Amino acid sequence: MPSQQPSATDSNPASFPYGRVGTLLLDAGRVTESQIREALGETPDEDERSLVGEKLVQCGLLTQPELLKFLFDQLTKEREAYQKNPISEPVIRFRGLEKTLDGRKILDGVDLEIPLGKITAILGVSGGGKTVTLKHMIGLMKPEAGEVEVDGQVLGSLAPKELNKLRTRFSMLFQGGALFDSLNVADNVAFPLREKTKLKEDVIQRRVNTCLKQVNLGKMGFKFPDELSGGMMKRAALARAMVTNPEILLLDEPTAGLDPIIERSIHHLICDTYLRFRYTMVLISHSVPEIFRWSHHVVVLHQGKVLEAGPSIDIANSDNPVIRQFLTGSLEGPIKVI
Ligand SMILES: Nc1ncnc2c1ncn2[C@@H]1O[C@H](COP(=O)(O)OP(=O)(O)OP(=O)(O)O)[C@@H](O)[C@H]1O
Ligand SMILES: [Mg+2]
Repeated sequence: MPSQQPSATDSNPASFPYGRVGTLLLDAGRVTESQIREALGETPDEDERSLVGEKLVQCGLLTQPELLKFLFDQLTKEREAYQKNPISEPVIRFRGLEKTLDGRKILDGVDLEIPLGKITAILGVSGGGKTVTLKHMIGLMKPEAGEVEVDGQVLGSLAPKELNKLRTRFSMLFQGGALFDSLNVADNVAFPLREKTKLKEDVIQRRVNTCLKQVNLGKMGFKFPDELSGGMMKRAALARAMVTNPEILLLDEPTAGLDPIIERSIHHLICDTYLRFRYTMVLISHSVPEIFRWSHHVVVLHQGKVLEAGPSIDIANSDNPVIRQFLTGSLEGPIKVI
């Protein structure tokens, strides 16, 4: 099979006979075409191609740390390119969003753009309205003023049926993971497919197995949530969010409550997932300053407004005192702790 040179963000998976990650590895000269063919077999389907990195590792053609470093370096290059040329059409846009909850103005005129096909991190103090912001993106909450636009469609103007259709393009990992305790991991991951699609059971099983392998839980499908560690639960929740092949993945605190090593492994997994599928990702995170290294774009929410937004490299160097305090975690500064 000849190596093609599609743009990394090409939305058609068929453009990548070796998977997107395989193409990146090949273009960087890290593996040869015959090595990829050895790892993938003769006629890999799309799911198998998405696992090309793991298959190269299994065949001993690459080590796991080499693969992770390669993918991280790739994201770093892309973040640097995005800083130099941050032009990307927004897929989600808020215009003057206002929301009051329990008599408190949580969103007070939020103007925000989420770039298509990039990883955006939303930062802000606890209770500052990040989850509320995410819920507005999929119409789970309605603003009292302002507009949410997804791909040019104003959510407030959509009929319930149209809104439901638009929602199928999203997946959300809720803060806390929210796995169903009564279902094992495989059934948890299968749940959105059984609920929302008419796929046959054998197709569902295959898709679930692929997603579990993608999050390194290949042999854990039979376990129940209370038998998993916190990191495994996050990975299972990520698999469930990915199983429908969404275009936009919203992740609310995917690393909260994890030790630094597991946190790092989840960030690698998010990076890996992004480079395999090129979803638009929106990530709420308290992993500061770590999260700056894993996102192209950062939006800082403060006192109901967007304080700053732009390429992660620029925001990391911002001299805004609120952002500096956030980055350093200092108790002194404009953010009052108690
Ligand atoms: N459904 C709701 N009803 C009433 N108040 C709500 C509701 N959802 C959120 N709030 C309030 O809105 C504020 C913002 O909540 P939100 O969950 O968006 O914070 P957050 O920035 O995600 O915080 P954290 O980092 O702790 O998750 C909080 O004061 C919260 O109590
Ligand atoms: Mg929250």
